[in-house]
Amino acid sequence: MIGELLPGSVVAVEAFGEEGEREFGDAPLYPQEEALLTQAVDKRRREFTVVRACARRAMDKLGVPPQPVLPGERGAPQWPDGVTGSMTHCEGYGAAALVRADDLASLGIDAEPHAPLPEGVLAAVALPAETARHARLAVERPDVHWDRLLFSAKESVYKAWFPLTRAWLDFSEADIDLTPVAAGPGTGPQGTFRARLLVPGPMVGGRRVGHFDGRWIVRRGLVATAVTVRHG
Ligand SMILES: CC(C)(COP(=O)(O)OP(=O)(O)OC[C@H]1O[C@@H](n2cnc3c(N)ncnc32)[C@H](O)[C@@H]1OP(=O)(O)O)[C@@H](O)C(=O)NCCC(=O)NCCS
Repeated sequence: MIGELLPGSVVAVEAFGEEGEREFGDAPLYPQEEALLTQAVDKRRREFTVVRACARRAMDKLGVPPQPVLPGERGAPQWPDGVTGSMTHCEGYGAAALVRADDLASLGIDAEPHAPLPEGVLAAVALPAETARHARLAVERPDVHWDRLLFSAKESVYKAWFPLTRAWLDFSEADIDLTPVAAGPGTGPQGTFRARLLVPGPMVGGRRVGHFDGRWIVRRGLVATAVTVRHG
């Protein structure tokens, strides 16, 4: 699912539900990773393990020797030299997406249950312009939980933003415009989005980035979003 949102240079590996747990849930961890889980509840251990097994499978597909994936500054995963990537986990799903750093400047992925956000969350994360567009989309396409989609898009933006800037990005600092696109029968709602950065963006390839572009999909009870930042 998440691979459909990403260019061909990105290797995405994902785990769905019980099948994913069976395949990846008992994967070995490195001692440095185990050391991070001494206080972890079972749910955290499972999602941590599944998503790192996905990352290791992606490293293998990229031709990179497997290695630990440890949290660095503000929790951002530390990737092998010459590689960048992103991870996400939610109930019943985990995914890792990796790419050669020569092919993309940054990327961010996020998945969430396709369900309304808890009361009050949309108001806390959405700009007035986003709230207005949300109201229109909710009438036009009531089959999509646009509030959850907006939230996920913001998380993907942050995950792509952080490795480029090493700085916080507030929910109010990116104005996200979600657009549905026509999809084939049985494929689920999907589309694109543009995140206009309301603070100075990172310098990439000698130019200041003013917006991030992304894609989204609703499938199998989940909403998934992905942002990619090119070098050019
Ligand atoms: C960090 C954050 C984006 C994670 O998203 P989430 O939906 O809570 O959780 P997910 O399961 O999808 O993602 C977790 C993974 O994100 C990654 N991550 C954590 N911090 C990160 C950072 N600073 N930069 C990039 N990736 C990060 C990690 O790989 C983590 O997995 P791990 O803990 O197993 O290593 C979120 O908790 C957060 O802090 N959001 C506030 C900032 C924000 O979204 N701003 C909006 C800008 S418009």
